[in-house]
Amino acid sequence: MISLKSEREIEAMKKAGELLAYIHSQINEVIAPGITTWDIEELSHKIMKQHGATAQQIGYNGYKYATCASINDEICHGFPRKKPLLNGDIVTIDMVVNLDGYLADSAWSYGVGEIDDLSKKLLDVTKKSLYLGIEQARVGNRTGDIGAAIQTFVEANGFSVVREFSGHGIGQEMHEDPMILHYGHPHKGVRLQEGMVITIEPMVNVGHWKSTLDDNGWTARTKDGSLSAQFEHTLAITADGPLILTEKK
Ligand code: MF3
Ligand code: CO
Repeated sequence: MISLKSEREIEAMKKAGELLAYIHSQINEVIAPGITTWDIEELSHKIMKQHGATAQQIGYNGYKYATCASINDEICHGFPRKKPLLNGDIVTIDMVVNLDGYLADSAWSYGVGEIDDLSKKLLDVTKKSLYLGIEQARVGNRTGDIGAAIQTFVEANGFSVVREFSGHGIGQEMHEDPMILHYGHPHKGVRLQEGMVITIEPMVNVGHWKSTLDDNGWTARTKDGSLSAQFEHTLAITADGPLILTEKK
């Protein structure tokens, strides 16, 4: 079942999204070789609490942390750790903020210190693919238009799109219908309507798209050991086009 959100609900989600964007901007200020993803976990959770928000990921299917922190070949759902980040690492920080019962979800990949050209290209292509997907999030288009735009661009750049994880509807629940695949065919899938709020969150690998799951039951990493990156926004589909909710005021 797809729930359509009122203007008031979208406004509430935008407040949660602006707080989330502010947290990412603070992470961007401090991220450097030597800091740990545990430091980022504490910083993120502290800012949520200071603003009267809660961390929706804590307790979700038994997950224990406010953030996911996925380093290098880790695709998603890495646990925050006390191991210092190294110069040249790339790390994806993902979180869901709950402000007054309304949610926002956004992930961002960061380069730590000086990163090499391949890592730079991976971050650049992944972020661009997100915005190409968002551009397709229009009334009358279908979910396949989003996936196809992302897949075509990523593969033209020699990288691959992860298949096992997708974007999703979001509202008062973290995961709602519809599922948003980051690959697919134009004109296929669910028709997009005004009032839908979704995430688009492509995970892109340098090598093959296949992943393996760690023994912790959560962390996915590339099967071939290649680097992986992710950028995610929460956005509303409006009569005027896509409205990104996880951007700073
Ligand atoms: N933020 C993730 C998403 O994009 C959800 C992470 S799963 C959790 O859907 F258990 F860590 F919360
Ligand atoms: Co998400």
